Amino acid sequence: MTKGHGDTDQKYHIPVLLQQTVDGLITNPDGVYLDVTYGGGGHSAEILKRLTQKGKLYAFDQDEEAIENKIPDKRLTLIKTNYRFFENHIQKIIPIDGILADIGVSSHQFDADYRGFSIRFDEPLDMRMDKSAKLNAQIVLNEYEEKALADVLYQYGELHNSRLLAKKIVKARILKPIITPTDLKNAIAGSVKPHLEKALLVQMFQAIRIEVNDELEALKILLESGLKVLKPGGRIAIISYHSLEDRLVKNFFRSGNFEGTLEKDFYGNIQAPVKSLTQKPMVPAEKEIETNPRSRSAKLRIGIKI
Ligand SMILES: C[S@@+](CC[C@H](N)C(=O)[O-])C[C@H]1O[C@@H](n2cnc3c(N)ncnc32)[C@H](O)[C@@H]1O
Repeated sequence: MTKGHGDTDQKYHIPVLLQQTVDGLITNPDGVYLDVTYGGGGHSAEILKRLTQKGKLYAFDQDEEAIENKIPDKRLTLIKTNYRFFENHIQKIIPIDGILADIGVSSHQFDADYRGFSIRFDEPLDMRMDKSAKLNAQIVLNEYEEKALADVLYQYGELHNSRLLAKKIVKARILKPIITPTDLKNAIAGSVKPHLEKALLVQMFQAIRIEVNDELEALKILLESGLKVLKPGGRIAIISYHSLEDRLVKNFFRSGNFEGTLEKDFYGNIQAPVKSLTQKPMVPAEKEIETNPRSRSAKLRIGIKI
């Protein structure tokens, strides 16, 4: 059984930057809010605490195991879908007061050996957040052409030896398909000094996971659709864990595009679609990192729709 929303015996996921996120998100306790990454429901539970009986929360997750954690609260509607499609489910309730996305994987996904997300378990690689999706980590590793594989490792893992790594994987998979973390480790053996191997594998895993779940594209769609459905003055809070994701959010808030190209009106004023609540992203305090080391790389940005 998976445990969520603040249960302490067996954690599904510890919500990151909880108070800062919900403090910055909620401006209307009677309002309508979205949590597009429900996970263990930790942020959703806190949002519900702050809403009156009139308030409503629509939550989404593409992982059926997250959907099993539904908080029994009649103000909450929980829907299994990729958040890139969230707009299809909320046409009757727009405009929205606030949207939260805490992107990436949950601790449950990472810690469940059968989900194939972690180098800690020598189980078949998978990495799909949505178990009904077609693409998985084994397909990326065994069927992608060498160049496509190198591109994934370079773009999402920022690995400068991506071509060498892809070449080694392609050579190894001719003899034996890459099924488990050990197969991958053997395939790339000797690419870096032994003490750097674990960090390399972690980066490779992250890159493959981003590809499998098409995470950056989903984030772009979310930002564009999110802005469309928000009320003026409504807020969008994004917690990200990867510099590429944070850059997309930062650029989009500043400029309305993902490259960060500033457009000016006739009078020279920058045409920004949102105003950032804080100039710099909010990050966890040392105390939070101590109790929840997985919060270490989190960055929270909150935009206010102009
Ligand atoms: C970091 S966890 C969220 C944890 C949650 N805030 C909590 O307090 O428990 C991220 C969740 O978002 C989901 N997710 C990630 N990308 C998604 C997407 N594109 N569409 C729907 N759900 C997604 C994952 O399945 C995972 O359950």
